[in-house]
Amino acid sequence: MDEERFKGIVRETNGPQETSELAFWLGQQAQAGQIYCLDGELGAGKTVFAQGFAAGLGVDEPVNSPTFTIIQQYEKGRLPLYHFDVYRLGSVEEMDEIGYEDYFYGEGVCLVEWSGLIEELLPEDAIQIQIEKNPDKGFDYRKITLYSRQFSGVDRRKE
Ligand SMILES: Nc1ncnc2c1ncn2[C@@H]1O[C@H](COP(=O)(O)OP(=O)(O)OP(=O)(O)O)[C@@H](O)[C@H]1O
Ligand SMILES: [Mg+2]
Repeated sequence: MDEERFKGIVRETNGPQETSELAFWLGQQAQAGQIYCLDGELGAGKTVFAQGFAAGLGVDEPVNSPTFTIIQQYEKGRLPLYHFDVYRLGSVEEMDEIGYEDYFYGEGVCLVEWSGLIEELLPEDAIQIQIEKNPDKGFDYRKITLYSRQFSGVDRRKE
């Protein structure tokens, strides 16, 4: 991640509802072929984000963490949604067995929880979303930073 060039868009939330609303808004605008990488410690809110995002995309099925299946597909939204949680992946090679390229370079939208674990497989233009807690700011506080080379035409440093 080239933080010097792309400062990122920062949003602070104070509860799961606010994180969900931000994700919903992004889901409404998501485009085919995009990969949204979700990173942050256990319980940061990656799945809360995924649920809001899916709703924004028009997925009306319940979205849960696909931890034990690695990938869960949702076909009923505006675009197909491929929700990965790679936390329990044994090795990066397992991604080949799953056939990840069909999803990453397909016609749907990908969400990848714990993307840092498969960093070498992520295309350069993947959208990075970092969710951070800050105990000093309260239990429900989250700092959400969005980095994307896709938005690099906009110079965020001046904001
Ligand atoms: N501002 C906030 N944004 C998101 N979730 C929040 C916020 N404040 C509190 N929470 C709570 O934090 C928890 C986030 O859980 P979630 O399963 O989304 O985390 P996760 O990052 O997916 O964790 P894991 O790595 O275990 O999959 C939920 O219980 C949610 O209610
Ligand atoms: Mg999760």
